[in-house]
Amino acid sequence: MKHLIAPSLLAADFCKLAVEVEMLNGSEADWIHIDIMDGQFVPNISYGFPVLDAIKGLVTKPLDVHLMILEPQHYIKRFRASGAASITVHVETCVHLHSTLQQIKETGAKAGVALNPHTPISEIEHVLDDVDLILIMSVNPGFGGQKFIYRSLHKIAELRTHLITRNLSAHIQVDGGVGLHNAERILQAGADVLVAGSAIFKADAPTDYIHRLKSLGADTILI
Ligand code: DX5
Ligand code: ZN
Repeated sequence: MKHLIAPSLLAADFCKLAVEVEMLNGSEADWIHIDIMDGQFVPNISYGFPVLDAIKGLVTKPLDVHLMILEPQHYIKRFRASGAASITVHVETCVHLHSTLQQIKETGAKAGVALNPHTPISEIEHVLDDVDLILIMSVNPGFGGQKFIYRSLHKIAELRTHLITRNLSAHIQVDGGVGLHNAERILQAGADVLVAGSAIFKADAPTDYIHRLKSLGADTILI
């Protein structure tokens, strides 16, 4: 299974966003990860529709939108209109998770569900058939540049085992503190989409860093 790389734009230099997007367009990045924060579900506010609308005509890769907002069901259509190819909601924010996932799919976007570090896999057991991706948070959501929580490796392996048992092909995306120092272990645990923000954008040569992440060869061994 060849893994995908999704650089998080949160760590980009916003004074030269067009240059950063062009860099990603010319790189081996598969998706561009977009972190939306509302200052309610997470203690930070990132960026929103005007920024997405500005870059959607520039990007040549799918926009992978990660909603860290309360009541995300009110904004699904709007994010789709702003270019989202996939929309991921947090299980902790959705009273009617199944319905919200269906709503995402009805827009034509891929549907994802995200889990905070403390949230068990069992929370999403009954929607695994309904999602295109599961995002395992490996830091507490809200900020880039945090340290990877190594306990997440067990969660990834547990989820991969569930997907194999049920013959499901949803992506397992890992987000937070990911870089060349731990990417191989994350892939071996069973993930297949790596989100990385600061590791990529703080690198001397981001395009080369993405290439190195993409070139890792790691068979799933479920740790
Ligand atoms: C954190 C966000 C992440 C963040 C990752 O709440 O969901 O996508 O941008 O940043 P790094 O890779 O710097 O931990
Ligand atoms: Zn994210």
